Amino acid sequence: ARIFVLNGPNLNLLGTREPGIYGTLTLTDVEARLRARAGDRAEIVFRQSNHEGELVTWIQEAGQEGAGVILNAGAYTHTSVALRDAISGAKADTIEVHLSNTHAREPFRHRSYISAVCRGVIAGFGPLSYELALEALLAQVP
Ligand code: DQA
Repeated sequence: ARIFVLNGPNLNLLGTREPGIYGTLTLTDVEARLRARAGDRAEIVFRQSNHEGELVTWIQEAGQEGAGVILNAGAYTHTSVALRDAISGAKADTIEVHLSNTHAREPFRHRSYISAVCRGVIAGFGPLSYELALEALLAQVP
């Protein structure tokens, strides 16, 4: 299975960004953990962008390749119709992930524009959220 792991805005600062909420592991650490868990079960394409349109393009690319998607859209989760439309248009199996439990935080984080077009949502488990999403995708995508 080929799996795109796409990270949105500010996730490049993971490790130093609000460590009380997001922990001290960097995005590179998250990637390493995920690759270790995947082993030879999946080919991982791991990317981060602070630009909404770039994330849209990557979701389209995943769809064209028939790859699955693990998406931490960051704050765009709560704002982006463009990302939602990319997911529903791309026919890529997409799992929404968050490091933090967004439902235990500010009310504006309770609404996700993308959940309804994703296969499922995993939030609140730090880097393990990504790994659980990987297991979910592998269970469905041979
Ligand atoms: C996040 C949660 C979002 O609300 C926030 O804007 C982020 C990170 C998470 O992984 O917990 O940037 O997606």
